[in-house]
Amino acid sequence: MDGAANGENTREAASGRGRGRSSALGPRGRGLFGRLLEGLRAPPAPRQEATSIAIASGKGGTGKSFLATSLAVLLHRAERKTVLVDCDFGLACDHLLLGVKPTLTLQQLLAGQCTLEQVLMSSPCGPRLLPGASGVRRMATPTDKDLTAFARELGHLAQQEEAMILDLGAGIAPATVLTMLGADWIVLVTQPEIAALVDAYAVIKCIAQIKRDVRFLVVVNRVATPGRGEQAFQRLTEVAGRNVGVELQYLGEIPDDDSVMQHRLGQLPLVVTEPEAPTSQALRGLSERLIQICGGVRRRTVDGDAGIQERFRQHRLFL
Ligand SMILES: Nc1ncnc2c1ncn2[C@@H]1O[C@H](COP(=O)(O)OP(=O)(O)O)[C@@H](O)[C@H]1O
Ligand SMILES: [Mg+2]
Repeated sequence: MDGAANGENTREAASGRGRGRSSALGPRGRGLFGRLLEGLRAPPAPRQEATSIAIASGKGGTGKSFLATSLAVLLHRAERKTVLVDCDFGLACDHLLLGVKPTLTLQQLLAGQCTLEQVLMSSPCGPRLLPGASGVRRMATPTDKDLTAFARELGHLAQQEEAMILDLGAGIAPATVLTMLGADWIVLVTQPEIAALVDAYAVIKCIAQIKRDVRFLVVVNRVATPGRGEQAFQRLTEVAGRNVGVELQYLGEIPDDDSVMQHRLGQLPLVVTEPEAPTSQALRGLSERLIQICGGVRRRTVDGDAGIQERFRQHRLFL
């Protein structure tokens, strides 16, 4: 489905229809007094929220977007109401992998120019997509105000879904770290070679310094020889355990597969076009283990001060 077919995801929607709705920041934002009052108010009531899973990596190009889009499709097929959020600020590409053409993105949403419902797109394979902006330099370094709006929109979205996949940019930029800290689970995508493992460890160390009870699941992508993924994981888990006392869980490996590279832009994901290929089978195995490990990847009740929006707010104090 393209942007026009989606109906809501259009520039016209950004031209004013969305302004002034409850999800927008409002024309002048909240004043200092308003923010102080907000800090003092009673925590919101317990509510139902999606299980949120951040897809992260140290090194760039490890296959996060490939994994994130595949998992979103597979979770949808496993009957979880799923949304994929493209959090690669400034270099978003999930819309290409899901075969949709957005007109509105996170950029207009965070600027208060449209509503969440207007920017969300349905995709031909099932999961909804909150598209990110691509090639927009301003979005690469989101401001404090952007991050506040981002957390609020994720909070709204989490209340509508069962599974929320957050596809991150590589590395440890502040917005990326904050999103990892805000998510329920972090899937760390690495490759078997040492440079990727060293960078993966750097992410683990960085997050563990802020959040001791962090839950990392590890995927080793582009594995040339079956079993090498688990060997790479053993090296990583040994170093992480010894140096920062963090336990990692192995989610599995994905083969290095030319057909992933050759997939044309706009084509549907491999798990849809070639469901029986070894890579698709490996991805299905990962998705099933993810469901098992992450409590079924369901909506669950969270205390008022423990939702994703509040976790963002709490961790912002440390960044
Ligand atoms: N298992 C794989 N086998 C072969 N190529 C892969 C595999 N996974 C990802 N790629 C390729 O690696 C490149 C980077 O993947 P991408 O998902 O965009 O990484 P990231 O989001 O981490 O930057 C893409 O060209 C993609 O097609
Ligand atoms: Mg990516």
